[in-house]
Amino acid sequence: MALLEHGHVLVLPDLTFDVSEAADVIYADVSDAGVKNVSYNPANGELKGTPLDGTARERLADAVARYSDWAEALVRELLPAYAKGLEKGRTSFRPRAADHNLSKRKDDRRLHVDAFPSNPVQGRRILRVFRNVNPAGEARNWRVGEPFADFAARFLPQTRPMAPGMGAILQALRVTTGRRSAYDHLMLQLHDAAKEHDEYQAHGPRWAADFPAGATWMCFTDSVVHAALGGRYAFEQTFYLPVSAMGDPAASPLRILEAMTGRRLV
Ligand code: SIN
Ligand code: FE
Repeated sequence: MALLEHGHVLVLPDLTFDVSEAADVIYADVSDAGVKNVSYNPANGELKGTPLDGTARERLADAVARYSDWAEALVRELLPAYAKGLEKGRTSFRPRAADHNLSKRKDDRRLHVDAFPSNPVQGRRILRVFRNVNPAGEARNWRVGEPFADFAARFLPQTRPMAPGMGAILQALRVTTGRRSAYDHLMLQLHDAAKEHDEYQAHGPRWAADFPAGATWMCFTDSVVHAALGGRYAFEQTFYLPVSAMGDPAASPLRILEAMTGRRLV
């Protein structure tokens, strides 16, 4: 828990999650052209981003739902201190890591921290659990960057405060689900500034991290600077956690950015 909160990626190389019964649907061409991921909402069972229909669609949804339950059980067992505040977000299946036609801002091959334009978190942490289910034994290739405080210090001078009333306007126009806070605004600007910075992308500090087929890994993707360069077929489950659930709230991006800006951000 302390390691995760301080920017480490936890790798669990040999857990079992069997996808053989759904192999024909998950390794078929299951994602819509131009869509990065198949996306599943565990709250209502809705599946998006795939052209499959009929029983093939149902079986894909079942496999993603099963991963969602598995990832939740894993977090509850491994990190019981988070159980009370744990909130489940969307689940995804990622048939490919990289799409060559994306804008810089949407291109997750570029180093970034996660921040969602339409889905404000208001300071809550983003914990993600990934699993590489590549049938050919190919790794998923990440790059992991500098500590969050260094990353924030680098790009903070390029950020601007949110215009008054903007959070309410975006919400009224349904650009966002919920209210974009000053924290969300700042995190989005850090995300965009990093992705658009060619020099940083080419030469900024980073280390290669390859996650082998069969591996499971998790990290707080709101503070671990990361990029996914390659690899096909991975599952991902998103969780949200309040800063108050952290063992060390001071290590959260919210508290770090508040200390750096001298402002309250939510
Ligand atoms: C990302 O969160 O940037 C992508 C991670 C992945 O799909 O491996
Ligand atoms: Fe990301």
